[in-house]
Amino acid sequence: MLDWRIRAGRDFDWPQLQVLAEGAVEEAISREGSMTLRRPGMPLPEDLWPPRSGYVAFRPVDGGLVGFVAVQFFEPTPHHSGRHADISLIVVAAEARGQGIGTALLQYAVEGAKRWGAATVKLDVDEGNLAARKLYERAGFATISRLMGLQLLEPQQEPRTR
Ligand SMILES: CC(C)(COP(=O)(O)OP(=O)(O)OC[C@H]1O[C@@H](n2cnc3c(N)ncnc32)[C@H](O)[C@@H]1OP(=O)(O)O)[C@@H](O)C(=O)NCCC(=O)NCCS
Repeated sequence: MLDWRIRAGRDFDWPQLQVLAEGAVEEAISREGSMTLRRPGMPLPEDLWPPRSGYVAFRPVDGGLVGFVAVQFFEPTPHHSGRHADISLIVVAAEARGQGIGTALLQYAVEGAKRWGAATVKLDVDEGNLAARKLYERAGFATISRLMGLQLLEPQQEPRTR
């Protein structure tokens, strides 16, 4: 079992987060094919990582990151009556999965959103991502909308994206 801890995110975590996020994008593409909204080489937008509202899981032995959760906070808008939070990304390194790190990161994110005064926390998840869906459902998340897609070209007919 891996020894791991969780701490608040910092600016200097950014390069390691990019690597973890890119791995997750590649996985989404191989799992969902062209129906995923993610694209190869898609950079992690910097506004997804306001460091003070994210958490990282790290190995105490060398400080290396094994996971992170990024949370964004939003003031009320005409479409949202209360403050709300979005979990924009949660990733655990493949070799560190199944040890409760994802569950712990999600708990930190939800607690952070509560402390900030969010009335709701939302996230989106690919239908085929069973591990992530299980994680969220166990934490009490319920489906509130469904994004549907229709495959028009066979994947091999699609123009290459790079
Ligand atoms: C989703 C993710 C963050 C979970 O992280 P984790 O550290 O493995 O999570 P935990 O160990 O806390 O719990 C994982 C649970 O999912 C289960 N699980 C793992 N793989 C699974 C699969 N393919 N199908 C169904 N359940 C699965 C585990 O068994 C565990 O449940 P259990 O405790 O009842 O056995 C991780 O799989 C990941 O980073 N995936 C790639 C990135 C991603 O898809 N992020 C979500 C984007 S919405």
